Order: sequence, then structure tokens, then C-alpha cells
Amino acid sequence: MVKDTALGNDRNLELVGHVDGQTVLDLGFGQGRTVEILAERGAKVLGSEVSRTMLMQATRRNRKAIANNMVDLRLSDGVTIPFDTNSTDAIVTAHTIYFWPDPQATLTDMCRVLRPGGYLTLAFNCADEGVPDWMDPSVFSSYTMFEVIKMLEVAGFVDVEAGGAKDAPPAMRWVRAKNPLV
Ligand SMILES: C[S@@+](CC[C@H](N)C(=O)[O-])C[C@H]1O[C@@H](n2cnc3c(N)ncnc32)[C@H](O)[C@@H]1O
Repeated sequence: MVKDTALGNDRNLELVGHVDGQTVLDLGFGQGRTVEILAERGAKVLGSEVSRTMLMQATRRNRKAIANNMVDLRLSDGVTIPFDTNSTDAIVTAHTIYFWPDPQATLTDMCRVLRPGGYLTLAFNCADEGVPDWMDPSVFSSYTMFEVIKMLEVAGFVDVEAGGAKDAPPAMRWVRAKNPLV
């Protein structure tokens, strides 16, 4: 699972591209590896997490960048995002959608937090390909690509693109979508 999440995060990092001077939100940052990489690349990083344990681990890992006000990690209620409207240039999230209690509401709130013209990239194991054995259905909700794209469009995103990743298992897919310029 650790290898799978690294591949999803690495694909998100490729898709988000040049981040120096940009603000990037990582939803469900876990141990904070992607937060650390984004900050090293010059981004101001916002993070939203439901787990206090993960918040503590990621805070420890990113303590210098937090002290320099380059990283701001917050606990969320799991549905909405604890940051202001239009407060980020990009959002990344990897292997988190399975746990969201209300994915439609969370994607809609992502649209609120993302500035117009900003992109969301979301990496996940897609139900179309048959999810890995470790994704116990009593814990992980899995979604087809059609379901995720539909939710993104209902949330207000446009220009949705989807794909896989080199050297990743076939189930690992990504979607990228834009918050329209109004
Ligand atoms: C499988 S881990 C992935 C962590 C990290 N994104 C990575 O790829 O290494 C899922 C993470 O999402 C967090 N999470 C689950 N539901 C969430 C939600 N509704 N909002 C924010 N974070 C959530 C969990 O606490 C956990 O840290």
C-alpha cells in the first residue's frame, strides 16, 4: 500500500507541475511526504486531515517549514475543508476518496477553496480495473472513473482529464479537473 500511495502522489506531483510561489492544498496528507516535497519545491502548502495522529506525524516532519509559515496543516471535519474560499492555486489528493463520508460535498467544497482557473488532481485505485485485495470493502469505498467524473462535474469542475501512471498497477488512475474561470 505504501508503494501504491507513493506512485499516486508522484503522479499528482508531476501533474501539478511548477509550484514555486504557488499555494497548493494536500487533502488527506497522511505522514506529510507530499507536503514536504511541495514545500521543498517552493510552494506554500495547506493541508487538511481528519486524523490527529497523521497531523502530529506530518507536523513533526514539516516542523521547519511550519515555523517559516510555508506549511499550514489543519484538522478537518472530513467533509468540508478548513480554508478560505479561493485560498489555493491547486489541490492534490492521493488515495483518500475511499474514506470520504460525502464525496460529492467534499468535491464541491474543493471547488470553493480552489481559485478560479486552478486545478485539482486526484489519484485513486479505480473500481473499473478491480481494486487491490488490501482494499477491504468494509473500510474502503471504491468508485468507477465514470462515478468520479460525474461527481466532479456536479461539483462544478470542467475540462476533466483522466489517465494511468507508468509502472503503476492498472487500477491506479488519476483525474485532473479545472475550477472554471466563471
Ligand atoms: C491511505 S492514506 C493516504 C495518505 C497520503 N495522501 C498518501 O498518499 O500517502 C489516507 C489519508 O486520508 C486521510 N483522510 C481520510 N478521510 C479524509 C477526509 N474526509 N478528509 C481529509 N483527510 C482524510 C486519512 O486520515 C489518511 O491520512
